[in-house]
Amino acid sequence: MKILPASWTQRYRPRRLDEIAGNKDAIAALKDWLASWVATPPKRRAALLYGPAGTGKTVSAEAASRDLGFELVEMNASDKRTTASIERIVGIAAEQRSLTGRKRVILLDEVDGIDPVSDRGAVETIASAIERTNWPLVLTANDPWDPKLAPLRTLCLMIQFKRLGLRDSIPYLRKICTAENLEVEERALRFVAERNSGDMRSMINDLQTLSAGRSKLTYDDVLWLGWRDRKESIFQVLGSIFNAKTCAWARKAADLVDIDPEMLFEWIYENAPAQFSDPKDREIAFEALAKADLYLTRMRKTQNWSLLSYALDFMTAGVAMARERTKPSWVKMSFPERIKLKGKMKRESGLKVEIGRKISLRCHISKAGAIQYFIPYLKQIFKNNRGEAERISRWLDLDEGMVKYLSGRRSEQVRDVAPSGVEFTEP
Ligand SMILES: Nc1ncnc2c1ncn2[C@@H]1O[C@H](COP(=O)(O)OP(=O)(O)O)[C@@H](O)[C@H]1O
Ligand SMILES: [Mg+2]
Repeated sequence: MKILPASWTQRYRPRRLDEIAGNKDAIAALKDWLASWVATPPKRRAALLYGPAGTGKTVSAEAASRDLGFELVEMNASDKRTTASIERIVGIAAEQRSLTGRKRVILLDEVDGIDPVSDRGAVETIASAIERTNWPLVLTANDPWDPKLAPLRTLCLMIQFKRLGLRDSIPYLRKICTAENLEVEERALRFVAERNSGDMRSMINDLQTLSAGRSKLTYDDVLWLGWRDRKESIFQVLGSIFNAKTCAWARKAADLVDIDPEMLFEWIYENAPAQFSDPKDREIAFEALAKADLYLTRMRKTQNWSLLSYALDFMTAGVAMARERTKPSWVKMSFPERIKLKGKMKRESGLKVEIGRKISLRCHISKAGAIQYFIPYLKQIFKNNRGEAERISRWLDLDEGMVKYLSGRRSEQVRDVAPSGVEFTEP
């Protein structure tokens, strides 16, 4: 039995030139140039295949050698390209004949990855190899205008690889799906292709990831791919929970944002009333939220994390399914009041403890005592007697935040402070 490679980019790696999608002009140029070596070495001893990642530069070099019956000597990006190791390749290049008697192609992959510091002299060595070689040298690079490659550009036949258009990539992806027995919607394939802006390797990788464990891939299945790596803001995620058409969609949305479930609960709780204008819908939504809350509380108490998934089901899918009578419309999302309040209380109790500590140092009483008996009086003094307040502040060595707190001017500072891990941006 033949063992297939696990990754689809390996499994469906083109072996012959006519299996490669798109870039027909580049492939023809490469093939013509290589074929011209059969008679006598042409003027240009090297070709530089350049263009964005995942457009088929490496596979084209490999397939062209295979098609023309050349033997391929490859030095890829993971090999350390010290001057010495390049010298070795140069040595091979300078040889008159190969061991097998076949013609050779020498491939130096991703030359723009050469580090001018650790691979010093490597570019110059390659340049001198090009001048002396008896075999075709194929170089690849994403960015051929990289200044460090300047010495090579003038020596090479420049062959441009372009991002793959939809007309080339969609049929290619479709072939893979057929081979994998994967039924896939046209719109889904188009979405995968469009999202990867012409990078075939990424398209294939996305396709494989998305179809894991499925026999059918729909547009909805691939749509949320667009979400995942864009790190959606909480507002967009809430939007997709409140407006989800299916339970699965609502539930998935919860995974897209980097926020803990209890915080997510607060956001949904805060915004649900505005989202469901119909009273019956609202009642159902809050019933789901009550159940979610129950599970969250139990989870916290028992430390049984398997309850989380029930809580999430209720707060996402449960809430989404409440929408029956309410018409979808744009409703402003707001920051959870309860969190604002909690945050404010936490900050203020922190200040209280700090002030209590300062008092206890000066007055030789306990911190708790200072907080309980002194702070209320200090608050009165700070509100009504500025001179005295200043004197006390200096004596206790209070900072600005503490003074503000005692004089009751603290509140405006606490407004709209986002809890950590949440980007607080209005949509
Ligand atoms: N034009 C293409 N046609 C078919 N498969 C491609 C093409 N370009 C890239 N691939 C896929 O991507 C993988 C990497 O391709 P590669 O030639 O290394 O891209 P590049 O060298 O341009 O970054 C291949 O194994 C193949 O599966
Ligand atoms: Mg490559």
